[in-house]
Amino acid sequence: MSEVFLIELVSNSPQETFALGQQIANSLFPGSLVALYGTLGSGKTHLTKGIAFGLGLTENITSPTYTIINEYSLPDNNIFYHIDAYRLDNENDFTETGILEIIHSNGICIIEWSERISKNLPCNTISIFLEISEQNANSSCRKIRISGLDKL
Ligand SMILES: Nc1ncnc2c1ncn2[C@@H]1O[C@H](COP(=O)(O)OP(=O)(O)O)[C@@H](O)[C@H]1O
Ligand SMILES: [Mg+2]
Repeated sequence: MSEVFLIELVSNSPQETFALGQQIANSLFPGSLVALYGTLGSGKTHLTKGIAFGLGLTENITSPTYTIINEYSLPDNNIFYHIDAYRLDNENDFTETGILEIIHSNGICIIEWSERISKNLPCNTISIFLEISEQNANSSCRKIRISGLDKL
């Protein structure tokens, strides 16, 4: 069993969050699942854009707010899944939308609003918590904590 390390860092701009996403992409493999946690505007979609770019996607990534699941083809022909779990309410939603299958597939999957479905996620999920640092006068400051990745 591998040990889970907690990485804690601060992002001071959307660009820094994007760059972190690119870095995270280097540690992902077919079948990787990344669960993002954090309120509206905390930077989940920005981070996802960075991850997608790092995986070689050139398309513009937009939040799947209404579609729930967006799929993109990666350069190696694997699939990149971008999921927004905000509107999911219960376990039925989870299976009916096909998310259950996706998270156990060989694709690379990123989920926004993972708090909605966290109890259904496997234990090898990479979890990333984004927080807007309110005590800081600089409103671009985001505290980011990562578990399930042993290095960056
Ligand atoms: N350090 C930062 N990292 C990410 N986004 C930031 C940061 N500072 C300010 N922002 C702004 O916060 C917003 C984040 O939006 P978004 O990524 O869509 O959040 P979410 O998907 O969590 O709702 C953007 O408007 C972005 O410009
Ligand atoms: Mg979003």
